[in-house]
Parts: sequence; C-alpha cells; structure tokens
Amino acid sequence: MSYNDMFLRACRKEEVTHVPVWYMRQAGRYDPDYQKIKEKYSLLEICMQPELAAEVTLMPIRKLGVDAAILYSDIMNPVASLGVKFDIVKNIGPVIENPIRTADDVHKLRPINVEQDLGHILETIRILDRELKVPLISFAGAPFTIASYLIEGRPSKSYIRTKSMMYSEPELWNTLMDKLGDMVISYLRAHIRNGAKAIQLFDSWVGSLAPRDFKVFVLPTIERIFRELSDLPQPKIYFPGVNSGELLPLLGNVQADVIGLDWRVSIAEGRRRLGPKFAVQGNLDPYLLEAPMNVIESYAAAIIDEGMQEPGHIFNLGHGLYPEASLDKLKRLTDFIHRYSEEAYKIRKEGVAEV
Ligand code: CP3
Repeated sequence: MSYNDMFLRACRKEEVTHVPVWYMRQAGRYDPDYQKIKEKYSLLEICMQPELAAEVTLMPIRKLGVDAAILYSDIMNPVASLGVKFDIVKNIGPVIENPIRTADDVHKLRPINVEQDLGHILETIRILDRELKVPLISFAGAPFTIASYLIEGRPSKSYIRTKSMMYSEPELWNTLMDKLGDMVISYLRAHIRNGAKAIQLFDSWVGSLAPRDFKVFVLPTIERIFRELSDLPQPKIYFPGVNSGELLPLLGNVQADVIGLDWRVSIAEGRRRLGPKFAVQGNLDPYLLEAPMNVIESYAAAIIDEGMQEPGHIFNLGHGLYPEASLDKLKRLTDFIHRYSEEAYKIRKEGVAEV
C-alpha cells in the first residue's frame, strides 16, 4: 500500500482527491478490542509500553480506514516531567495528587526533560513512524486546558479556581502560562524529531473564557507556542475546543495551519471568522452518531459540500468520540466521506475539463 498523504495535503490547502478524515479520540473506548486491553492495563500503563501503545494507535487505522493516526497518549503525560503526580481515574479523568494553588506550587514546577522522562512516548512515535502508511498526528494539551486540571485537581465545569488565579494573581497566572508554554514547545519539538508528521494543540476548555479574557490571559502564549515552532515544516493544528466560535476572529496571528471547529459554527461561518489563512478541521456533532445512518450521511454531505467551497478541509468531529459510539457506524461514515467526496471532486474536475 502506498503512503496516503491526503491529510497533509489538506492541511496545506493543496489539491486532494478525497476529503481526509480522522476522529478525535479515535483510539479507544468504543472498540471492544480496546476494552479488552483496558481490562489488563490502565491508560498510563499502556503508554509505558511503546509496542502496545503503537498497536492501540494502529487499531482505528485498520478498523475504520481513516486518513491519519493520532498517537495513543494523553494530554496529561508530559506534566509528570514537571514534577506533578497524577492519575487518570476511570469515569472521572485526570486527578492531581497535589493541585497547584500557590505561588510556591507554581515556582516548583521544573522544566521538562523529554528524553529522560518521556522516552517511552518518543519510542512509540518511532515505532509508528516505521509502520504507518498514513501521517501520525502527535499532540499536546494547551496551557489553559492543562492549567485547569493542575489547579482544579480534577475535571471541572466552572473552572472556579482556575479563573480565581487568573483574575486575582495575573502575574502568577502568567508565570504558569509561560512554564506550560515552554513544556508544550519542547515536548512537541521532540515528537517531530522522532517522526510525528503533524501536531495538534488541544485547548479543549478554553471556550469557557470570554473573548476578552482569552485575548489577555491565554492568546499571547498560544501565539508564542506556534511562533516558536514555526521553523518546523510539519502542519500544526490548533483546536480551541468546545464553545470556541466567539474566539475564532482572534486567532489571526496564530501561526498554525489548521483550526479545529466545534459543531456550533458551520464550516463556512468558521472560515469567515478566521479569514483565508487557515485550513479548517471538523465539525460533526459527535452525538449525531446516535442518528440513523441516512441522517448521519446527510449531515456529513452538507459538511463536505461546505468544506469543498475552499481548499483545506479535514473532516472530523467537533469534539472527541464517546464510549458508546458505534464502531459500525463510524466505519460506514468513514467510507461515506471518502466515496461522496471522491465523486464530488471527480465531477468538479470533469466539469472544469469540459469547459
Ligand atoms: O484517540 C485519541 O484521540 C488519542 C488519545 C487521546 C487520549 N486523550 C486518550 C484517553 C487524546 C488525543 C487525548 C486528549 C485529551 N485528554 C484531551 C483533549 C481532547 C478532548 O477530548 O477535549 C483531554 C481534555 C484529556 C484529558 C482526559 N483524559 C479526560 C477528560 C479523560 C477522561 C474523560 C473521558 O473522556 O473518558 C481522559 C482519559 C482518557 N484519555 C481516555 C482515553 C482513551 C479514556 C479512559 C481510558 O481509556 O483509560
């Protein structure tokens, strides 16, 4: 099988013969074979075993036929190297042993040493680089989203303590953003050095901020991260998470290639708010997978039709897959996206040729 570079081409707004697709959280829980592995090992234990982590990364490529792989890992993994102890608890998510609340806690965070502390993740990337026939996307959690776990100590709905630090101690907040920004930059650079073909920065929860606060308290660090990575030719994706529609007009100076959209803003409206610089990724509501197949297909077709109006669209969900999602429907959706968009591009090409 030859290398499928459709995903990289779409990131760069180059010509494609079908719309590439992958799914956030595609390695995972909806798959009974993954559940079997999880009976024996926790997420962190899988990450410690590069052969197994690579295998889990490959599972959705084989089963669904998606156009890109995403490294099996978690946004929390690099914080171990900051000196933070945490666990990923079933049905909860990341839980921090000693949440970061005081100036002393922030100052104690040490610079990360990727080679020394996170060598197992780099090894997983090297294995995948040898085995994959589609691009490997590697990722990091963005500073706000990581800070929300470090400060709250666990998943939160209100981000009350995070916002409390942000508004009450802006200098301390900026120190934390700087440290997490440094973490992201050296972590993602190491991933690229070891074979990742694209990177995505997950800012899952930053949509909880008003645009003005995003601009003051978060955006400078996002801009710095992408500026400092801008010498790398690999495509870079910024996903500002759920409820991020109002933040899109502020992203103009972010040196990313692709912006991920949630489902509350259409592809056309997202492009309008972002301007012509970026490719876009998204944006089917993940829970639309609960609908009958013909309804799923009609929504997917509408997204593809809009996406095709400009170069640079990668099909994805507006947020991650959930455990109850149907493997069978995902497979059929993936096939549909390929078939429908291939046909549409063919008609477009032949139509142009006839003129
Ligand atoms: O398939 C993939 O996308 C690659 C693997 C991946 C995981 N986490 C594995 C995982 C990725 C890209 C992530 C990113 C991640 N982790 C994000 C950003 C994406 C998003 O959904 O917004 C966030 C916020 C986290 C933090 C996190 N990890 C939470 C909130 C949870 C528990 C809640 C949940 O969704 O289950 C986790 C655990 C986790 N990370 C699981 C997986 C497969 C599920 C539990 C498990 O299988 O052990």
